[in-house]
Amino acid sequence: MSDLIRILVVDDERPIREGCHRVLTAKDYHVCTAENGQQALEILEKESIDLILLDLKMPVLSGEEVLQAVQERHPDLPVIIITGHGTVDTAVECMKNGAYDFITKPFQIDQFLATVRRASEKRKLEQQARKYQEENIRNLYDLHLEKSRLRTMINCMANGVMVTNRSMEVVLHNPVFMQLLDIKEEIEAPVAISSIISDQVLIETLASILNQREGKSEWVTQEIQAGARALRAISAPATGPQGDIMGTVTVLEDITPFKQLDQMKTDFVNMVAHELRSPLVSIRQLQSVILEGLTGPLNEKQKDYISRGMNKIDALLDLINDLLDIAKIEAGKYVQRRVPTDLARLIQEAITLLDPRAKKQGITITSEFHDLKPVQADPKNMEEVLNNLLTNAINYSPNGGTVAVRAAGLGEFMEIEISDTGVGIPEEELPKIFDKFYRVKHPETRKVIGTGLGLAIVKSVIEAHNGTIEVESTPGKGSTFRIRLPMIVEN
Ligand SMILES: Nc1ncnc2c1ncn2[C@@H]1O[C@H](COP(=O)(O)OP(=O)(O)O)[C@@H](O)[C@H]1O
Ligand SMILES: [Mg+2]
Repeated sequence: MSDLIRILVVDDERPIREGCHRVLTAKDYHVCTAENGQQALEILEKESIDLILLDLKMPVLSGEEVLQAVQERHPDLPVIIITGHGTVDTAVECMKNGAYDFITKPFQIDQFLATVRRASEKRKLEQQARKYQEENIRNLYDLHLEKSRLRTMINCMANGVMVTNRSMEVVLHNPVFMQLLDIKEEIEAPVAISSIISDQVLIETLASILNQREGKSEWVTQEIQAGARALRAISAPATGPQGDIMGTVTVLEDITPFKQLDQMKTDFVNMVAHELRSPLVSIRQLQSVILEGLTGPLNEKQKDYISRGMNKIDALLDLINDLLDIAKIEAGKYVQRRVPTDLARLIQEAITLLDPRAKKQGITITSEFHDLKPVQADPKNMEEVLNNLLTNAINYSPNGGTVAVRAAGLGEFMEIEISDTGVGIPEEELPKIFDKFYRVKHPETRKVIGTGLGLAIVKSVIEAHNGTIEVESTPGKGSTFRIRLPMIVEN
């Protein structure tokens, strides 16, 4: 809508019409004129007019009649009555009937303009108010539509959805959420989350999401058990327009079928590994009997072939043992017993065992111990951990160098560091080396035989002992693996 105000001047006296036209046009009003009431009403039909200046005494239709007609058809249109001295009473009467104001002839230009200005401003304000009101209604409608659309979407989702407020009450949920958690009776929102969800880990996660710093919106993924169902819960903060945390959103997915498939895969691998191991062990034994010359003398070529074959069998047995270990870890059966364990002794033994191999590669292994106390651990698991880390340190140092083992008691923790001066690991590979079967491709260590399972086993074992493992590495310089295990605190 333009800001231009369009004024219709209705007067049978031409000088008045022309005078008004001149004065008002000079003030940037758009002016049209009519010399009688009939003409005025015709113009009103065709054009959009914001204000009427209306003479009272006119032939054909009187001003009063025109006013009445205008009020019927355009009740919001302000009308200013033009009146001579003799008709002031009628003008007052007109105002009672809804005219906005009146001006008397002859006009005082200033007064005339002031009256017109007031009337146009009123008109403008009214129009603006109407526009806002319309917009408001439209917004409310859109909002309502948007809300019901969102509702429909959430209700039709194949995943469970739960939204909590800052006081950890469930304020929104969908039917799948109810199904997954096996909740029969309808929830009257908002209800305390603890009365619906029994998984403490999820509740703690949501609490920590609410307490986290604003702007840091990370998704947390975890597995929860709901009766016989395994669910994956993905939670995130629900943020307001200013980024402030207003609650949490959790999406639940039923992963029971995947878990079952995964279990089938583990059982299968387990079965195959078991079935392969015994014949392989027999073949190895037979080969070693042959190699030792117990079945008659061998020439060099035969010895070479048999021992190469045995190396391959050893690699296969390593893979099989790693697979069986992983299967045990995943079934939670790997850590068998926990006893006070002297790590210094285990470290020394592991070094003694691997030293010949290190020497062959020109590697020196050093060790250093400070303030050691026993840790509560399964010694066989710890042997496996040390063996894996030391073997890696040796294997991935093709050009000799040093492997340094340091173990120290640090208050409540025992820290073991295994550093090497080997090929190192690029930064982007660091997060992946603890994954099952992951091996970094490096031209100098291409020939190293491995399964990519060692560090996955190490990490699981350490975490099962409530410990942590981290790695620092500089490609070309070397790597340091650092383990922390809780020490036994004497009371
Ligand atoms: N000390 C190390 N120095 C350099 N790279 C290493 C070291 N330890 C592990 N890695 C990298 O991590 C990968 C995974 O190690 P691991 O799980 O023990 O499997 P594997 O030794 O059987 O390949 C290795 O293949 C290697 O690329
Ligand atoms: Mg390894």
